[in-house]
Amino acid sequence: MEQLVQTEMWKARSLEELVRILHRLFAEDKVSVEEVQALMESYESNPDEWLQYAQFDQYRYTRNLVDNGNGKFNLMILCWGEGHGSSIHDHTDSHCFMKILQGNLKETLFEWPEKKGNGEMTKKSERVLRENQCAYINDSIGLHRVENISHTETAVSLHLYSPPFDSCNTFDQRTGHKHKVKMTFYSQFGERTHCATAMPQENN
Ligand code: SIN
Repeated sequence: MEQLVQTEMWKARSLEELVRILHRLFAEDKVSVEEVQALMESYESNPDEWLQYAQFDQYRYTRNLVDNGNGKFNLMILCWGEGHGSSIHDHTDSHCFMKILQGNLKETLFEWPEKKGNGEMTKKSERVLRENQCAYINDSIGLHRVENISHTETAVSLHLYSPPFDSCNTFDQRTGHKHKVKMTFYSQFGERTHCATAMPQENN
């Protein structure tokens, strides 16, 4: 994905419209990061439109596929129970857009560890993302951990990954050691994924 000088200003008035415009943008050879981020931010979260995809688990955050973007991207809804969080992870050379649909999520950015990974990882920054905000990260920016730090409120976020990926590396904050994990979907298009493939979600 490359930056374009000129970008068109889109406004998505519904989740359905957002998906439609995303398909149009990603059908082009070049897609602008700013344009996708602005488009995702323009969508005003309406739970009536996404509740059908929002399936929670008691113990860990869930990944729920909404659209597979004609092979160009994966759009998914992540459901975060109180205190749920991801491990520190990379994005497998993909672009990651993360929009808050409900609640707040804390994002902590980390530097990549030294090659051998043998010491505490360096924190670059942290911030709290609020409803309707859309963040962006890729591997050249660094690694991140995402957490719902609330003990009373759940959180829901909409993620777009391009190109789609089904594994990533997680990192141990104390040592920087990395570990490759498979990413799975808790549900796809509103239907609970078969348990055999849904169980091993290791990024949290
Ligand atoms: C993220 O990378 O923003 C969340 C982790 C995931 O997709 O499971």
